[in-house]
Amino acid sequence: MIHVTVIHNDSTSTTVALEPAPSILIAFENAGYEYPHGCRVGVCGSCISEVVTGIETLPPADFIERRRLAELRAAERNSVNATLDKEHIRFCCRTALTAGPITLRPLSGTVKKITP
Ligand code: FES
Repeated sequence: MIHVTVIHNDSTSTTVALEPAPSILIAFENAGYEYPHGCRVGVCGSCISEVVTGIETLPPADFIERRRLAELRAAERNSVNATLDKEHIRFCCRTALTAGPITLRPLSGTVKKITP
């Protein structure tokens, strides 16, 4: 199990033990949690999160993730509300979860337990 802590918008946090998975998004879903997402393939940016700790445990970003992040950063370059200039930004739909622990701060949306 890999311990992943999520920092919520109100600065509270939740730590969840997750199984390794092809993406952080899928790891949360397999454990019964909703993680912010849209397209699931690295286009929309809904799953973008700051990796607050543990970036060294994640595999490097692939070409699609690097290219799309560069595009989004360029688009918001002149915005006073720029959020993507942080150092460790990852697309949770494209980042495999293979080791940890890590701490994430989703840049949009919230993580919540799916109630049956
Ligand atoms: S869900 Fe759309 S970029 Fe990750």
